[in-house]
Amino acid sequence: MKAVILVGGEGTRLRPLTVNAPKPMIPVLNRPFLEHVLDYLRRYGINDVILSMGYRSEVITNHFGDGRDFGVNLLYVHEETPLGTAGAVKNAEQHLDGTCFVFNGDILTSLDLGAMLEFHRQKKSMVTISLVPVEDPTAYGLVELDDDRRVQRFIEKPTWDRVTTNLVNAGTYIVEPEVFRYVPPKLYYMFEHGLFPVLLQTGDPMYGYPSNCYWIDIGTPQKYLGLHRDLLTGRAETVMPGKRLKEGVWVDAECDIDPTAHLVSPVVLGKGVAIGPHSTITGPVVMGDGCRVGRDSVVEDAVIWRETRVGNSVTMKTCVVGEGSQIDDHCWITGGAIIGDHCLVGANNKMEHAIRIWPGKSIGPGTITF
Ligand code: GTP
Repeated sequence: MKAVILVGGEGTRLRPLTVNAPKPMIPVLNRPFLEHVLDYLRRYGINDVILSMGYRSEVITNHFGDGRDFGVNLLYVHEETPLGTAGAVKNAEQHLDGTCFVFNGDILTSLDLGAMLEFHRQKKSMVTISLVPVEDPTAYGLVELDDDRRVQRFIEKPTWDRVTTNLVNAGTYIVEPEVFRYVPPKLYYMFEHGLFPVLLQTGDPMYGYPSNCYWIDIGTPQKYLGLHRDLLTGRAETVMPGKRLKEGVWVDAECDIDPTAHLVSPVVLGKGVAIGPHSTITGPVVMGDGCRVGRDSVVEDAVIWRETRVGNSVTMKTCVVGEGSQIDDHCWITGGAIIGDHCLVGANNKMEHAIRIWPGKSIGPGTITF
């Protein structure tokens, strides 16, 4: 059975992390996010994958090629202008040969695809939507089901007095290709606001598949950090990279950890990472290959991409730093700050309050304080 993964979005909410790479290519545990998604599909025997491409597609094709090295057959379908989620699958229609899975390409889940497929077949459904419960339904588009789990209604961000369910669309669908006859070709068209409401009117069987699976989308920097926290603390399942140095600390080859440095789990360090004297790395922290931290620095609750240099007496807490950046001495990078690729942050800068620095920026010493 084939799967279509939607990977064409611009990932605007994740900028500046998505300026140089599309969202599916940003590193999670030091590997492109999409590798984790393909691992998941392979576990269910799904090896034929169509990637529906748009923004920065060349970064994806250069890394994955025909997919052979990743245990899958990849077919790339490009769109000249964004076609939206349903329009993008319509654009790949000629490659579909029966029931298929469709995934938003920014979601990691433990959803049982086998059980969902069985449900879809048993109900003779045309579209089955995976659903998860949320604590605050007023922030989401809700999907109301009847007792048989057939979709009755979509309710967009209701006030509390209109809340009749806590189930939201979890971004995984099983579809019968016939439904794409309702989708206009080469036009921007969404599942949520286009095809699904149409199916309610036509009466084609559309079902919801609720489950309590793990589910997160990496659409915002907060969720990107949240996914790392979940993976590192075992809330979400994965295989840790590198060698287990001690409980909760995984270190790749050739790391140089000073004997006076302190690693507090959970921590993942890529190949060749160096941690200087008296520095403390308090997890959840992930550092990419070739990162270096000087002396007396503190890094906590952070994701730092490959080849980034951190100076002496730097404090980094709840932040993301892109690849090849340099953070000089006595900087303070906290409070959800996001620093893009190849930035130079001079000494004594204080970056907080979810500040976002675009790739390639050079910030002189002591320029930014709050
Ligand atoms: P934001 O700009 O931050 O909203 O991110 P996004 O562009 O990725 O949009 P969103 O998170 O709503 O998209 C959900 C999934 O659908 C992501 O995996 C996107 O890559 C994908 N997607 C969104 N729009 C399109 C599109 O027009 N074409 C294709 N092929 N994929 C899309």
